[in-house]
Amino acid sequence: MTQVAEHVAIIMDGNGRWAQRRGRPRLVGHHAGAKRVREIVQACPEVRVKYLTVFAFSTENWKRTQVEVSGLMRLFKRYIRRETQALIDEGVRVRFIGDRIKLDDTLVQLMDELELVTSGNSTIHLTIALNYGGRDEVTRAAQRMAREVEAGKLAAQSVTAEVLASFLDTHFLPDPDLVIRTSGEARISNFLLWQSAYAEYEFVETLWPDFTALQFTQLISRFGTRDRRYGALTA
Ligand code: IPE
Ligand code: IPE
Ligand code: MG
Repeated sequence: MTQVAEHVAIIMDGNGRWAQRRGRPRLVGHHAGAKRVREIVQACPEVRVKYLTVFAFSTENWKRTQVEVSGLMRLFKRYIRRETQALIDEGVRVRFIGDRIKLDDTLVQLMDELELVTSGNSTIHLTIALNYGGRDEVTRAAQRMAREVEAGKLAAQSVTAEVLASFLDTHFLPDPDLVIRTSGEARISNFLLWQSAYAEYEFVETLWPDFTALQFTQLISRFGTRDRRYGALTA
């Protein structure tokens, strides 16, 4: 029997190059990329993926031009407004990870609303990483833990890996089984550092706006045959 990838995480990379190859502004690539998400979400039940996590904007992406950053922020708002009904209808529960402090109020309000209106759904759990960075997440978790220790609510010696994980943005998620990155780059770029300790990785050449449900399901079947040893010996 092949194993199931219960949680798949995707680094959706290559939007800018996709647009540039067509002589179009980078934002055109981001719009094309956003459209791909729905098809991948819809492909999940068939291959028994229960949790899908997508990297939409990193804590490092603020280094881009103001035009690109503000265009992306507008795109996120438009995406939420446009997709809400379809997400509800398809039984998708949406949650966001990342630091909301740097995001504008309208966007944060839309994120809160989308989380709320989809909170009763459980067919697929879609998590969107927005202003997310693995080191930033662990740092914020450490600060919150330190505050609890200072307040006498948490004893230093009771901090285990499980306790630390419960302070992370991803406390409601199982660890990813498979992490996919598109666009040919073979790096993690600060995504789910703690959570991916034993994830399997797939780096594919396809630029994100060209990534299809078929390619997704093929990667899931290949995952099914991988031998995950976690440091032990094959059973
Ligand atoms: C990924 O595509 C989306 C974001 C980082 C927001 P890129 O914008 O990084 O596309 P490339 O890597 O420049 O082609
Ligand atoms: C990672 O892609 C972040 C997202 C996909 C949102 P980047 O394009 O920002 O990563 P680097 O800069 O190539 O490492
Ligand atoms: Mg990139």
